[in-house]
Amino acid sequence: MAICVYSYTTLNYALLCIIMQGFMIPSLLPTYSPYPLAMVRGEGDLIIDDQGQSWIDLYGGHCVCSTGHSHPKVVEAIHKQSKQLIFYSTAGELKIRREAADNLIAFSGMDTLFFCNSGAEANENALKLSFEITGRKAFGSFQGGWHGRTLLALTVTDDIKITKAFEGIFPEHYRFPFGDISALESINFSNLACVIVEPIQSMSGIRTAPLTWFSALRKKCTDAGCLLVFDEIQTGVGRLGVPYASDYFKVKPDFITSAKGLASGIPIGALLMTEGMAKDVKSHMLGSTFGGGPIACAALIATLDIIRDERLMEHAKSMQSYLVDALKNTVIDEVKGIGLLLGLKTSNASDLKTYLLSQRILIGSSSDPNVLRLMPPLNVRKSSLEYLVEHIRAYGSMS
Ligand SMILES: Cc1ncc(COP(=O)(O)O)c(C=O)c1O
Repeated sequence: MAICVYSYTTLNYALLCIIMQGFMIPSLLPTYSPYPLAMVRGEGDLIIDDQGQSWIDLYGGHCVCSTGHSHPKVVEAIHKQSKQLIFYSTAGELKIRREAADNLIAFSGMDTLFFCNSGAEANENALKLSFEITGRKAFGSFQGGWHGRTLLALTVTDDIKITKAFEGIFPEHYRFPFGDISALESINFSNLACVIVEPIQSMSGIRTAPLTWFSALRKKCTDAGCLLVFDEIQTGVGRLGVPYASDYFKVKPDFITSAKGLASGIPIGALLMTEGMAKDVKSHMLGSTFGGGPIACAALIATLDIIRDERLMEHAKSMQSYLVDALKNTVIDEVKGIGLLLGLKTSNASDLKTYLLSQRILIGSSSDPNVLRLMPPLNVRKSSLEYLVEHIRAYGSMS
């Protein structure tokens, strides 16, 4: 930052620059627009701020906090593992890593997996492997899909503001209409390494497609020798009331990518695949220093145990039914989505969001100006959702 202060000595000027820089450039760069609170701690579906006030968290740290904030069993698992061994890469054989893989394989119904650290990394590896396995050099994806910020993930992401700068360096790629059977029939998949699909397009406003479209997509891919990747970064880990969206839509993809809720907030990603894919994967094709670290694996095992023991998938379904009923005849025109990945369609979403925030309810927006998103912890209390409904009704009576 250039400031001209002629009456200062050079030293004072330099000091002033440093101080002013401190004011002008934050040590942490901005990313998303933050909620209007300073978070201090979390408990279940609540966040407590620095004033000691509780906020109902229906956003779940961006669909991550699957078992609620600081679930005692997750805390205990992390604590126990951290006393034993905080980290070793896959160069070291770790019982806890095998156990995490076995549990996730049993939960998902896929055959084998690779652990990484994030959703984008899982997608990046699915796309890379599709290239290598098929030898084809083009990708397919769908309008409205959002897949991450690494280069191949970005290639298949439909979000011009984050992709624009890179258009010239993306590999060959085609984007198709989402959920449209007749459009699907007219597309040629024979040059594609894979198509990647977000079974419920979250960022785009909780858009999904009929079961018939998913089965037509599976058939189309199989017939053309094109691999099918389900990006289940948001839809997975029990959020739809079933382990993965592929269970809900009754389609077996070649790859499922999973992250976000897998370890209740400890970073981990997984690329799950069928045996058919795994037989072509050589050990040099995959790798990650931190992927599948022991703390993340301990948290993942605890997360899956909690989802099973506390029947959180059943709870997700019943909370969806509750909201669909309770929001009838309110300013909400439609409750979109499945389980606890929901969109509230309303004519003035941003105004409603501002009102809900003023009532200390955290809720997400989407790229659809008429859709707010709910992706709370899977153990969100019914009383918290009743509080939401009450405030949506109160908002409706004011507007
Ligand atoms: C559907 C989907 N895919 C991929 C990603 C990227 O995941 P990450 O931010 O962990 O890289 C996201 C993140 O929001 C997502 O919602």
